[in-house]
Amino acid sequence: MKNFGKFALLAALGLALGGCAPSPTFLNPASSIAEHEANLYRNILIMALAVFVLVEVGLIWIVIRDRRRKGDDKPPKQIHGNTRLEIIWTVIPVLLTVALFAMTVQTMHSVAAPAASAKDINVHVIGHRWWWEFVYPDLGITTANELHIPVGETVQITLDSMDVIHSFWVPQLSGKTDAIPGQTNHMWLTADQTGVFTGQCAEFCGLEHALMRIHVVVDSEADFTAWVANQQQLAALPQTEEEQAGYKLVSTLCASCHSLDPAEPAVKVGPNIAHLFSRSTFAGATYDLNLENLRRWLDDTQPMKPGNDMDLQLTPKEIEQILAYLILLK
Ligand code: CUA
Repeated sequence: MKNFGKFALLAALGLALGGCAPSPTFLNPASSIAEHEANLYRNILIMALAVFVLVEVGLIWIVIRDRRRKGDDKPPKQIHGNTRLEIIWTVIPVLLTVALFAMTVQTMHSVAAPAASAKDINVHVIGHRWWWEFVYPDLGITTANELHIPVGETVQITLDSMDVIHSFWVPQLSGKTDAIPGQTNHMWLTADQTGVFTGQCAEFCGLEHALMRIHVVVDSEADFTAWVANQQQLAALPQTEEEQAGYKLVSTLCASCHSLDPAEPAVKVGPNIAHLFSRSTFAGATYDLNLENLRRWLDDTQPMKPGNDMDLQLTPKEIEQILAYLILLK
């Protein structure tokens, strides 16, 4: 018991700190899909709570009323075969079930994909152990982990996996859909407000399943257009001697896994890095993208994300040269 106070304090602190960041739950909807889901969830929860409270109050009332009293061994009044009661407790659950069914069907109808339109943004989402690849086939862009979409537009998503089953889930924007190798799935989403929304692979896919995150960056129309224009640019070329040395290393050591071609549609082992530093995170949206973290990563990726496919032996000098070039890739 001595440690209980400490534990309670820590738990309270954790809750308080956890409460600081807006929770990425569908109960904080940023899209019409999540709003419909949240409404369905609330309505069912209210019904379930009402049933729970009524049943428990009835149970406690009967237990107290019919308890065994001193000097009275007679059983309480029996109600077996009471037709009226049996009709009541059959009809009420049937009505509740019909209501649940109707609300669910209505929600399914509300979140069904709208008919494809020429205005839609098409994205091919490919799950990898343990990161997400985003290909925009109409725009000639391949990127990773951070999905940019314009606010208010319908995004039609085609889902595939390169290895095992993953699941694409950004709760504030949409329900989840599995990414299955050899089976193309479809989903759609739309965002009602700008901002960054966090998602997570929702199907256990191995060691780093928990570190397979998604950031959806919902841009204004103008920001999205600017983002697209930048992503379509060719990767920056090296200028200084240090940058050139880095470029040579990247071209020989890194390029077999990481494409420097922003339009490269073929799936490589690792994320496209043509515009690496236009992103704010790396390694499956696990780490903030800055020189310090990237230096640690190039030195040894395994302590930062055990089990990932990248394993290079670089000297400190080579790391600095590579960094000098990578930072140009804005
Ligand atoms: Cu991918 Cu879990």
